[in-house]
Amino acid sequence: MNVLVCGGAGYIGSNMTAMLASQGHRPIVFDNLSKGHKEAVKGQELIEGDLADFDLLVKVLKEKKIDAVMHFAAFIEVGESVEKPLEFYRNNVCNTRTLLTAMEKTGVKKFVFSSSAAVYGMPKSVPITEDLPKEPINPYGETKWAVEQMCHFQSHTGKLNYAALRYFNAAGAGGNGTLGEDHKPESHLIPLVIAAAMGKREDIKIFGTDYPTPDGTCIRDYIHIEDLCSAHLLALEKLEKYNELVYNLGNGKGYSVRQVIETVKKVSGAFFKVVEALRRPGDPPVLTADAAKAIKELGWKVKYPQIEKIVETAWKWHSAHPNGYGK
Ligand code: UFG
Repeated sequence: MNVLVCGGAGYIGSNMTAMLASQGHRPIVFDNLSKGHKEAVKGQELIEGDLADFDLLVKVLKEKKIDAVMHFAAFIEVGESVEKPLEFYRNNVCNTRTLLTAMEKTGVKKFVFSSSAAVYGMPKSVPITEDLPKEPINPYGETKWAVEQMCHFQSHTGKLNYAALRYFNAAGAGGNGTLGEDHKPESHLIPLVIAAAMGKREDIKIFGTDYPTPDGTCIRDYIHIEDLCSAHLLALEKLEKYNELVYNLGNGKGYSVRQVIETVKKVSGAFFKVVEALRRPGDPPVLTADAAKAIKELGWKVKYPQIEKIVETAWKWHSAHPNGYGK
């Protein structure tokens, strides 16, 4: 298939692009490079463009004979979404509406959307199943849910077949270890702990040690980037026959902040300072996925169930790229 990968120069999008190419598809990356890295596109076609540019989207969808769109281009920082909600709605919702309108105009039906566990807000029970209430607690989660709803209604017109994939915590490096996580600024736990282990940060702060969890720190469900991407390929195939697919993508097993820090210590062999700090506002104590639906319906198999293996791939990438994709 000819697949337009919106946000294909970003962390998840670049890994998806590499996997699509390795499976015989033709990925075409569409990215404005506001957050992504040219170097992460690794020889695939890159169109530098903005999702607000309707005419360009129509042109690309037609000229490149696009069969399906995968959409990773969005703002992801929860804290920033609270400070700049209008920016998040513009980029995450309005631009996705433009993309879907261009798809409608050109008759491109298949759409795989990066959604998030953030649509569940503070879930009443874990592990989270797809049918739990969607009650986001920040503008970021609201924008993801708004797009899911837009896709839901559009799919009922018969003009869209979509998969909404609700990611838990994407982690690790893929593309044979060449494609890692490089956000600027970085806010995610694993790359920050690794930065501390590499001596690039003075310490790592634990945001909250008084949560109702066994060691008092938050528990998250870390899923390797290649496992995340393999589920997208399976969902894409299924869109041939189905117009609406929704799946949680996680390992189903949770690790606490302290456990992640211990794992990085073990994998890196480095000593670094760990500081107990206040809670970060809006963090639910435990987020773990029930991914049984994806396993059963997509035949999804996770290759990296253990946190240690996930951290190893991240550690190798960061060690080889101490300044990320930059010089
Ligand atoms: N944490 C620390 N110290 C740090 C950074 C993070 O203790 O320096 C903690 C956080 O408080 C949280 C855990 O580590 O408890 C994981 O934090 P991340 O920022 O790595 O990830 P989140 O679970 O907050 O967020 C991720 C994605 C979001 C998405 C969310 C959905 O980054 O985009 O999962 O669950 F919305």
